[in-house]
Amino acid sequence: MTIDEKVRKTLAELGATDAAGVEALFGEVRAAMEQERSSLVARGASSEAERDKLCKDLRDRWLARKNGLLTQIDEHWLKLGAKELKPIVGRQFNELRKASAGMETNELAQVVPLRKETSASMAQLSAQLESDVIRAERGDVSDLTLPGYRRPLGSLHPVTQMQREIEEIFLNLGFWIESGPEIESVYYNFDALNIPESHPSRDDWDTLYINSQTVLRTHTSPVQIRAMEKYGAPLYIIIPGKCYRHDNPDASHSPMFHQVEGLAIASDITFADLKGTLDFFAKKLFGEKVQTRFQPSFFPFTEPSGEVAISCIFCGGEGCRVCKESGWIEVMGCGMVHPQVLRNGGIDPEKFSGWAFGLGVDRFAMLKYDINDIQLFFQSDVRFLEQF
Ligand code: PHE
Repeated sequence: MTIDEKVRKTLAELGATDAAGVEALFGEVRAAMEQERSSLVARGASSEAERDKLCKDLRDRWLARKNGLLTQIDEHWLKLGAKELKPIVGRQFNELRKASAGMETNELAQVVPLRKETSASMAQLSAQLESDVIRAERGDVSDLTLPGYRRPLGSLHPVTQMQREIEEIFLNLGFWIESGPEIESVYYNFDALNIPESHPSRDDWDTLYINSQTVLRTHTSPVQIRAMEKYGAPLYIIIPGKCYRHDNPDASHSPMFHQVEGLAIASDITFADLKGTLDFFAKKLFGEKVQTRFQPSFFPFTEPSGEVAISCIFCGGEGCRVCKESGWIEVMGCGMVHPQVLRNGGIDPEKFSGWAFGLGVDRFAMLKYDINDIQLFFQSDVRFLEQF
């Protein structure tokens, strides 16, 4: 029922039989009055004549002696009200009267702004607003004073948060961010990286082939070559992105996962730079106490190659379930860029040297947030995601 309908009924008809009921009704009336007033203020007027008319119309709607809403309330609620309710209705009515002082034409005119309508869209907007208000007054649409829908705020995915943290550290060191295609050629994914035809990672078991010449990239390393071709040396980049492997999903494997690749090429880069940079990175990410360990390893595109471990962030190196009692957790592969890879990227290995590393972002996020199942990242379960 609209306010206009309500003021034409008696309190008894409206079911207001006690003080609380009466107060609620008057509360509604005051809210409606205030809302109509603020709609007019928000709408403004395009000329003084229009403003005066709008203000007078609104004033008359509420305060006209003959048929104004207040007169109706006086007639139906006060005069026809039950005797025992008279004191409370009288008091509420007086308050309403006081509150309605601002509805006098000249009072309204002082607060309704004159707008220079510079565009058609402005006129359209106020026409729309006006028709909304009129329709609301008629009760055609739901109450405009109702609060809007609350949409819960989301947050960044934990893997995204981890990726951004990693990016931040390297951006501060002067690296920039490069990216490349997830659907990659066999040339960039394997050949240019010095991965021979016979290498087991080329197997169907590891690689998702689109056709004989095209794969879903199995690592971010192909972007090393693309960036060398594009920018030459010197080069300091990190490459975050999705990678794909033909792995069955389990607690530590996902056919889609995230890597960040790092690549530094300049005229005097040594393994010491690689160690220093990765040690600094690990301490920034996991805390000053963390130590790094480099062990020999093998990748076709780096020589020498290394496997980097950090001292266990859960037990501090004492040995626990997570580090399998070893005190160390392996976190990435790295090495000095193979001369043939530099050559494939168009860079002269006699003049330049470089290092590279590759790490799994999902795995880093699991360590950082103490998550024991990689699948949780990709199941979109709000109860899990809400925690970040
Ligand atoms: N591309 C390697 C992998 O996915 C990681 C790596 C990158 C190793 C760069 C050395 C240098 O396992």
